[in-house]
Amino acid sequence: MFENIACLILAAGKGTRMYSEDPKVLRPLLGHPMLYYVYRALEPIFGEDILTVVGFGRERMEKAFPEKIDRFVMQEKQLGTGHAFSCSFDALKATGAEYCLVMNGDTPLALTETLEDFLDDTMASQADIAFLSLTLDDPGAYGRVIRGKNDSVQAIIELKDYDVHVHGPETGEINSGIYLLRLDAVAPLLKELSNENKSGEYYITDLIGLGVKHGLRVDGIACGSDEFLLGVNSPRELLEAELVLQQFINETLVDKGVILRNPGQVRIGPDVIVAPGVDITGPCEIYGTTEIRQGAIVESNVVILDSLLDKRSHVRSFSHLEKAVLGESAVAGPFARLRPGAVLKENVRVGNFVEVKKSVLAKGVKAGHLTYLGDADIGENTNIGAGTITCNYDGKNKHKTIIGKEAFIGSNTAFVAPVKIGDQTLVGAGSVITKDVDAHALAVGRSRQVNLKRRKCNDESGPS
Ligand code: UD1
Ligand code: CA
Repeated sequence: MFENIACLILAAGKGTRMYSEDPKVLRPLLGHPMLYYVYRALEPIFGEDILTVVGFGRERMEKAFPEKIDRFVMQEKQLGTGHAFSCSFDALKATGAEYCLVMNGDTPLALTETLEDFLDDTMASQADIAFLSLTLDDPGAYGRVIRGKNDSVQAIIELKDYDVHVHGPETGEINSGIYLLRLDAVAPLLKELSNENKSGEYYITDLIGLGVKHGLRVDGIACGSDEFLLGVNSPRELLEAELVLQQFINETLVDKGVILRNPGQVRIGPDVIVAPGVDITGPCEIYGTTEIRQGAIVESNVVILDSLLDKRSHVRSFSHLEKAVLGESAVAGPFARLRPGAVLKENVRVGNFVEVKKSVLAKGVKAGHLTYLGDADIGENTNIGAGTITCNYDGKNKHKTIIGKEAFIGSNTAFVAPVKIGDQTLVGAGSVITKDVDAHALAVGRSRQVNLKRRKCNDESGPS
């Protein structure tokens, strides 16, 4: 629909006001970096054809978005947003597009619909240069939009350079940092960009005044006070944006029929799927690609990342799940830890202080207390006693523990992997199992208890 428009995200800046060693656009909101949201808003319009200017913390940017690297453009020195655009100009021209949508990478909440409307409006008005503006009660540190006769845009003046005597009283109208530029129209203006301003930077916003000066068609499209278009520059603005997003996601879920008992403290990422009727009590954090199916319950103080909670499963309080699967009607916690590759099938129960990693627990397995199951396969209806440990690591490699179905593992058993335990075996409590055990066998691997007579006691002085 917008084939003639290329797309560029400005994301090379450090973000000094964020006080972080990471590039600002990698600061997360509800489990994803800011820049993730910008891609998420733009991809429905531009697919993969999105260029990103990177510079500060480039390696970290590449690590965070490896699939985007071949569309990264380098800005070696961060000399300002105008310079970032100039650095990308050849790459933009190479796309063959006539226009370019440019967007700051620190505007994570912008919606696809808003961007589409902006493109529709600017295409219809055949603007050479256009930008989206907001009107705020407190215009903060954003660039001020200056309008002249008939409301025609004259310039954008950055706060540091704004002078009431020269530019007139504040109107509250500010630049959102989203622009549409006709490439051939702005090309001659690039060499006129100057860094003679209070910041000593080349501003992309100067293209507006230059465009007016050269008689180009310049439009400022006013977008009310849409808080979704605010740039995020400081921890406070990050917090505010996250609250807006949290409220938006939670209200959408409640409208869909999800029960959120403490919505102010429920933090759910934008890609999480939650079925109507699911019951979630905050505080909790549920992020990534997590899916929670019908009838599931999530109690308080729970963290869930990239996991599947199947129908009627139940995560009890203080549990932590990452890349795990909790099967139908399975129960985890309180205080359970399911690490990557933990797959708990139907009706499995794991209780307090049970840690499961890269292990499959078949239907009906129970591990009620104080257990570590790593690199294990456990058959149906097997019962794992308290304190059972799979010793899966020999200092160099990881090894598997395979336990059959309907086995009964006594408390405090250590399985020294690799080891295989047959169906319906019984393992005596306190065993250290180093050898395979056949089906139906009883295995005891501990020293036999010896009861000896104590030496005779002298009644008066006690034992000697
Ligand atoms: C910018 C606008 C301001 C607008 C505001 C909206 C300019 C000069 N000002 O200000 O009018 O109201 O956004 O949020 O553009 N970046 C680079 N290379 C650089 C410098 C910055 O790629 O050399 C990137 C940053 O990573 C960031 C974006 O450009 O994603 C905007 O830069 P930032 O410094 O945040 O600009 P603001 O001061 O917020
Ligand atoms: Ca900014």
